Amino acid sequence: ETLESRTVEAVAKYIKDGVRPQRIVVMTGAGISTSAGIPDFRSPDTGLYANLARLNLPYAEAVFDISYFRNNPLPFYTLAQELYPGHYRPTITHSFIHLLHKKGLLLKLFTQNIDCLEREAGVPDEKIVEAHGSFARQSCIECKGAYPRELMERAIKEKTVPHCLDESCNGLVKPEIVFFGEQLPEAFFKNKSLPTEADLVIIMGTSLSVQPFASLPHFCRDATPRVLINSEQVGDLGSRADDVLMLQDCDSGVRKLAEACGWLEELEGLWAE
Ligand code: OAD
Repeated sequence: ETLESRTVEAVAKYIKDGVRPQRIVVMTGAGISTSAGIPDFRSPDTGLYANLARLNLPYAEAVFDISYFRNNPLPFYTLAQELYPGHYRPTITHSFIHLLHKKGLLLKLFTQNIDCLEREAGVPDEKIVEAHGSFARQSCIECKGAYPRELMERAIKEKTVPHCLDESCNGLVKPEIVFFGEQLPEAFFKNKSLPTEADLVIIMGTSLSVQPFASLPHFCRDATPRVLINSEQVGDLGSRADDVLMLQDCDSGVRKLAEACGWLEELEGLWAE
């Protein structure tokens, strides 16, 4: 047994008393940003997918489906303005990940989010695997040619569909966020075995319903404690002896964990910066 019990206090003790250098892997999803004002995808009333009737989609996920986009790019560009990063402030959960990094405990953060709030909270680039891409770059879906950022910003603002600047191609251009039917970025495959090296895994704010990301928690060793901070139980979390379930909102969950570690004041300070 690596944990004395399945409690927050046991996790805190494990983090604080670790004899080996602690390597924590964090896995996040849309639920860590809902308190920043960004809807998640699958929550029944408030989630993005429950609120897309105005786009007349055949099914909600179509808005992020590459084959649907090829024929109907407009619904995505109708929504893109709301998804575009920049309007939101990181939550205390984002700051908690930054705190783990500051303490030298963060091995890697795997995020499914495209809001860039982890980075904004201070987690450095090299610690983040943006498994579902980001708005940082944009390119033609046919010839893969890069597209200028200013033109993408204009297209998103005006809700128009941008096309490849190479007129002989004229393919559709989209931000390099990963759509259903597309490969995840190379960085995901390069790093996906890292959970096997983790001493602790913290999973927050995700329904774990999209593969291959949803498999990451399986990759860590059986003896590695896995902490789930989420409003509902997801995946197979809870099935291993050292799984700790904190079924609550992420912000109060990380506050509780920080408090048990004696870091609460530092965390609040970091968040207020
Ligand atoms: P989901 O919307 O599927 O899941 C969010 C999870 O967070 C749910 O389990 C919620 O109950 C929980 N949750 C929401 N707010 C919370 C809060 N304040 N505190 C604690 N838990 C909370 O979002 P993801 O799992 O991120 O992909 O979705 C995965 C992928 O599906 C996304 O990256 C996106 C989407 O389609 C693409 O677009 C490619």
